[in-house]
Order: sequence, then C-alpha cells, then structure tokens
Amino acid sequence: GRAQAGTTATDEQEEVRQRLARAPGATWEAVRETSVTREYELVAAPARVQLLDGRMLDVWAYNGQVPGPTLRADVGDRLRVRLVNRLPQATSIHWHGLRLDNTMDGVPGVTQPPVEPGESFTYEFVLEDAGTFWFHPHIRGSEQVERGLHAALIVGDGPSAPALREEVWVLDDWRLAEDGQIDPRFVTRHDLAHDGRWGQMVTVNGVTATTLALRPGERVRLRLLNVSNGRVFRPRFGAVKAEVVAFDGRPTSRPLPVDVLELAPGNRADVELSVPETMSDQQLAVEDTFTRRRLPLATIDVRGPAETAKASISAATLPDPDWSAATGLPADELFRLNARRGGPYGVEWTLNDQVMSPAHHGHSSVQHESRYTLKDGRFTKLQFVNESARLHPMHIHGQFFRVLARNGVPVEEHHWRDTVLVGPRESVDIGLVPRDAGLWALHCHIQEHHDSGMMTLVRVE
Ligand code: C2O
Ligand code: CU
Repeated sequence: GRAQAGTTATDEQEEVRQRLARAPGATWEAVRETSVTREYELVAAPARVQLLDGRMLDVWAYNGQVPGPTLRADVGDRLRVRLVNRLPQATSIHWHGLRLDNTMDGVPGVTQPPVEPGESFTYEFVLEDAGTFWFHPHIRGSEQVERGLHAALIVGDGPSAPALREEVWVLDDWRLAEDGQIDPRFVTRHDLAHDGRWGQMVTVNGVTATTLALRPGERVRLRLLNVSNGRVFRPRFGAVKAEVVAFDGRPTSRPLPVDVLELAPGNRADVELSVPETMSDQQLAVEDTFTRRRLPLATIDVRGPAETAKASISAATLPDPDWSAATGLPADELFRLNARRGGPYGVEWTLNDQVMSPAHHGHSSVQHESRYTLKDGRFTKLQFVNESARLHPMHIHGQFFRVLARNGVPVEEHHWRDTVLVGPRESVDIGLVPRDAGLWALHCHIQEHHDSGMMTLVRVE
C-alpha cells in the first residue's frame, strides 16, 4: 500500500485510531463455541424445476432447488458442508458476510483450489455471528449464480431467543431468451458497459407470485436477500408497518424506517412487519421502487381472526460506535473504480487500474500476495472513489464495516455492512477494525464487473 501506518500518519492520528478501535461497539467479543456440529451435503448439478410463472426451467441448483436449501444453525455451532460438484465446470462456495477461518472462505486460486467437476470439498468452520447470511460460488458467478446457485444461511441466536414467525425472501431477477429459458449469453459487452446483467423478470424465492398470508395484528420477521447479478432492490410494503432491525447479518442500533432500505447485490436486511389490528381482508402489493417502473414483488394477504398473543419484537441491537473523530483521518487505502477496453470480454473493470479475474483462476495461478495490508485490530479507513458512471456494490470478505461519509459528507447509517453501493462518480469512506488474519477478497458484487476483473485482495495481519 502507498499510505502505510507510520509513514504518513502522525502520532496524533495514531492515537485517534487507537481511541476509535477501543470505542464501545467498535468490536465484539469472541464467540462462545457450542458442542453442536451441523452437517449438510450440497450437490451442485444441472436440474429442471418449476419456477418463475410456473414454467419448467433449466437451472443449476444445489440439491435440485432454486434457491438452494436454507441452511440453519445457531451462533457458536460448527458448520460442516460437503460440496459435491456435478456441474460441467469448476465451482466453490463462498460464505457471504461470515467471519470465518480464511481457508474456508471459498475463493478459488486464493484460499483453495477450484472444485473441479466430479470432485468434492468439505467446508468446516464455527459460526461467529447470528444473522442472515448467504452462500454462492466464487468462480464464474456471472453464470453460476445467475443459473440458480445461491441460498440462505440463517444463524440463530440460540435456544433462548424469542420465537417470532419468520420468512426468508430471496430477491432475484432473470434474463430469459426467446425460448423462455435462461439467456445463455453471459458477460456481454452490454452488461459490462452497464450495471451488469438485469433481467426482465423479478422473483421472490424463484417465483413471480409469492403470497404472504398474515393475520391482523400479526408480526413477522422477513429475511431479505438480494442474490441478483446486478439489480438493486428498494422494496416497499404499503400499509403494513415495516422496520429494518438487521442489515448484512448484524442487528441495527435501533429499528430503522423501511424507507431507507436499499438492497444492492449481496446485501441482506431483516425487516419486521406488523399488521395493524384493525386491518382485515386486504391484499397489499409489495413493490420494488428502485427503477422508475414499479415492479410487483409479492402480495401480503391479510385475513382471518386477529392475532392476540403478540410475539415480542426482537430485542437484539448493537450500539453505534462513536466514530465521528474518523472524519479528520486520512484514508489508509483508496480504491479507484473504473473501466477500460481490453481483456477477454472487450471491457474490463478495474480497481486502481488493476484487474483480477476469478473467471481465469486456475491451479497454476494461485495468488498469495496482496498490495494492501491492513493491521488486525487497528482502526482503518478505506475510500472508494467511483470514477465511472455505473453502480458498484463493493464487498469485503470476512469483515464488517460502517459507512463514514459519502462525497466527503459524514453519514450515520446506524448499522454495519459487508457490501456498500457506490453510486456514479461518488466517493464513499468506510471504517472498520479488521479482524482475522488472511487474504480477503475485496470486489464489486455485480457479477459481470467482478468476473471482468473488479477484484483485489487485502491481507489482514
Ligand atoms: Cu457474495 Cu466475494 O461475494
Ligand atoms: Cu461494479
């Protein structure tokens, strides 16, 4: 890196960093391990399933389902997942948003070799955080995730947690060819020149007509995940009260109004819905409002007798660390986001004028080095500078961070993230206290941008 500690930072700034790293809420305790091991097997293979508007669709699926099976465990449990590859190409599983042992992070060519067709690989690690997470291949995601390889991983708070009804909603979109099947042209020049692949159909859990039946007075926790290649979702819930209680797998510091909710590819949010007791026999449209054309996502169907015994709202919150003093600190690293002509697709997306293409990782090109070194336990400020006119949801593996400022103006979001949407020509400052030694991927979560090179590695040590 160019701006390493000790060379440009003054002693005073170093003191500020130490204070920020120790601020209440800036880090969290190590997890207490349970003695439970949860075992799953995931077979990735082509399948033909009924999806979208009821048609038979040729997909690639985990265990024959799209989305794949929701994996569940409690915080502190050990997860052991055997991945069997029956696809026509190499694959892997990345555990999006989880803090875990670096060797289990699923980045081919970096933390493991690709899992070739016919091979298997067993992932095993302790779950350090309760929340809504997901998993997907980390090689040719532009094709593999689009064809249906993705699923939720729900980590619970343990047996003592209050029982609230919950639903998982996997948000996705699909680009279909004229024959009604998934358009097999991946990473087109058009996708690269724009915000990746946006489809003409949006779905919740793979279908276009999801209905959620609720009773008057009922409360439910909706776990939302955006698994699409490029589309941003901004769901709105009509007359039902909706509050964001967790984002990217961590509780917010307080319930947040749902009108701040924007889900870029990779983002998750837990939304608590409460139906007014006085509402009955009504159908409410849940719509996406990110684009000018409102897209129907699902219907909430309120009917039946009123719910009397109300489940309590989830109590979990995380305090906001006071990081206002970070405003005066220089960025430790700056990532310029841009595109240029060239590469296998004609256009490639760059981070500081460099490309790293997961589509072309092979056994022979295992990467061990990083230009960017972050110190474990040190308050770190990173800056994304979008020099392009496109969107870039920037994701860092194995770490949680906070948005500090946009275009130099301080912002307070009241929640942690692992992925932040950087708008056209926008600069975003983030703060984090890096944890867990290893080589962690940092990349744009638009799969086409990622596969054309918009990725790098940061070393935490
Ligand atoms: Cu969800 Cu490196 O990705
Ligand atoms: Cu991008």
